[in-house]
Amino acid sequence: MTDLPPDNQKLYEGKAKIVYETDNPEILITYFKDDATAFNAQKKGQIANKGIVNCKVTAHLYALLEKQGMATHLIAQTSDRTLEVKRVDIVPLEVVVRNIAAGSLCKQTGLALGTPLSPPLVEFYYKNDDLGDPLLTRDRIAAMHITSSSQLDRLVDKAKTVNTVLTDFFATCDITLVDFKLEFGTDAEGSLLLADEISPDTCRLWDTAESDQSKRVMDKDRFRQDLGSVAESYQTVLKRIQSQLESDPS
Ligand code: TMP
Repeated sequence: MTDLPPDNQKLYEGKAKIVYETDNPEILITYFKDDATAFNAQKKGQIANKGIVNCKVTAHLYALLEKQGMATHLIAQTSDRTLEVKRVDIVPLEVVVRNIAAGSLCKQTGLALGTPLSPPLVEFYYKNDDLGDPLLTRDRIAAMHITSSSQLDRLVDKAKTVNTVLTDFFATCDITLVDFKLEFGTDAEGSLLLADEISPDTCRLWDTAESDQSKRVMDKDRFRQDLGSVAESYQTVLKRIQSQLESDPS
C-alpha cells in the first residue's frame, strides 16, 4: 500500500487505525484499516474498503463541523486512507449521544429498540479495553480524576452541537442519526478538539425510507449482527454524503 507511512514512524496501532508520527512533533498521520472488531474485539473480521470509506466520511463530516465553528484535529486528507491531524492528548472518555434507543442502552435498560429519546442522551464511557469500556457517572469521573467538571460541561455542549449539525446533515441524505460516539483531546495550546473519527464504525445510521430493521441498518451493526451487505452499506453511506455535498456545497 503506497499511502502507508514508514514503519519506524508508527506510534500506535489500534483496532481500526494506525497512528504515525511525522517530522513535525505536533502533527500525526492516521491510517484507516479494513479491520473490524466488535464486542471488545471478541469478534474480528474485515470489511472491504472500510478504511477508505471511514477516512473519507470522517474528512467530510469534520469539514462540515469546522464550517459550523467546531474545532477538530483534522488538518487535511492526504490519501484515500490517511488523515493529517494535530497531535492531541486524548481525554479517555467515549462521549456517546443517543437520539433513538439502540445497542447497549436497550440491553441495559429494557427500552425498546427504536424508542425516540427527547432530549437526546449524552453518556460517558471509560476508554479502557481491560475494563470493557464501562459506563461512567459524573461522580465516578470526578473520583477517577479523568477531567474537571467544567471540562465535562464543555464536552457535553460540544457533543450536543455535533448532534444538531450531523442530525440535520444526515437527514438531507435520507439517513437517520440514531446514536454516535465522539472522542476529544487537548492540543499543545490546551484547546479542546474533536478527535478520532466519525464514520459508520462509530455511528448508528438508519436508512430513513426503510422500516424493516434488518434492511435499514447502514452501519457497523451489519457486521456486529451478521446482517450481510456490510461493505455495500458503508459505500452507500459515503455515496449519499458525497452526492449531498456536491448538490449543496454550502
Ligand atoms: P453502544 O450502544 O454499543 O453503547 O454504542 C453506542 C454508539 O457508540 C454506537 O453508535 C456505536 C458507538 N461505539 C463505538 O464507536 N465504539 C465502541 O467501542 C462502542 C461500544 C460503541
